[in-house]
Amino acid sequence: MRIAINTGGGDAPGLNAVIRAVTLSSLELGWEVFGIRQGYEGLLGEVPDGIVPLTRKAVRGITHLGGTILGTTNRGNPLRWAQPQPDGSMVEVDRSGELLEAFEEWGFDVLVAVGGDGSLTIARELSEKGLKVVGVPKTIDNDLASTAVTFGFHTAVQTATDAIGRLHSTAESHRRTMVVEVMGRHAGWIALFAGLGGTADVILLPEVPYDIEKVCAKVNSRYVGDRGFCIVVVAEGARPLGGGEVYKEGAGAGRVARLGGIAEILAGEIGERTGHETRSLVLGHLQRGGEPTAYDKILALRFGAAAVQLIEEGHFGCMVSLDPPEVKAVPLADAVAHIKTVPPDSDVMRTARRLGVSFGD
Ligand code: F6P
Repeated sequence: MRIAINTGGGDAPGLNAVIRAVTLSSLELGWEVFGIRQGYEGLLGEVPDGIVPLTRKAVRGITHLGGTILGTTNRGNPLRWAQPQPDGSMVEVDRSGELLEAFEEWGFDVLVAVGGDGSLTIARELSEKGLKVVGVPKTIDNDLASTAVTFGFHTAVQTATDAIGRLHSTAESHRRTMVVEVMGRHAGWIALFAGLGGTADVILLPEVPYDIEKVCAKVNSRYVGDRGFCIVVVAEGARPLGGGEVYKEGAGAGRVARLGGIAEILAGEIGERTGHETRSLVLGHLQRGGEPTAYDKILALRFGAAAVQLIEEGHFGCMVSLDPPEVKAVPLADAVAHIKTVPPDSDVMRTARRLGVSFGD
């Protein structure tokens, strides 16, 4: 058996642990394993040495490393490849036929696709075209349905919680309101968990459009006399009632729109309306970098080993998923049918509300 593995979309702490687990579990069975570099680009001849053999030596010590030794990309969808035109414009072309041919030429039997919503949607489409695929759910946003949690989320929450915690002392010293922007395009899991863990006063989620007046009322309530400070955590995809998300860059061929900038706008509005000195910061890719937490290392290793078990049992077109306490399998089609957002009756939100947190609603 010849296994190919790739990592697609935004990186997440734990990717290397999956690569190690898939490699070692496969080698134990006497199989061969190859890594496709930069999503699908390695297979399409877009990068030199696009296919790398994964040996014991190649994966030694990588569990502790952030990022992915295979590289990744969120700009290389083989089904809608962004092809530059002579006039400088871009058009999307379908290169899946070429990809399937290359897969066969390399003599690969199965693809282990490690990715989030976008990459697993590609994997599902390739599986419908006849490729044997097993998916592994990755994203710091934790917005994939059909798994209790994705690897990378725990590390991102840890990093964001630490950062939010550190803001308390400087906010209090200066009597400032600090507005912290965290990742989360359509789902506010990071904002909710890190906001609760970092004891924020206001948490704004994409799922709950906020009323600026209610946000400011909460901010004001945190100041008594000449004392007080306030911590506001906002997901990058949050939006005001009747308003839209804030984007840094629009969508283009092979490229999704980039969110970003809500914290700065919100800080300006809060400062103007309340008169309190306000600062904003964006945690950005800090949340995706660095060593995974123990939880993410273990989850990623379990996912990788489970992917190989599925291949051994002949199950394809599926994704490994955490259904506590076990790692199981779900059809890829179900996994990407919709994204997992924070439900309005989430017990974590209820907990935060009981502790006085405002969601601006
Ligand atoms: O992995 C998803 C995500 O973390 C989103 O929350 C964020 O919008 C996006 O990645 C940013 O990715 P990049 O800067 O790599 O395009």
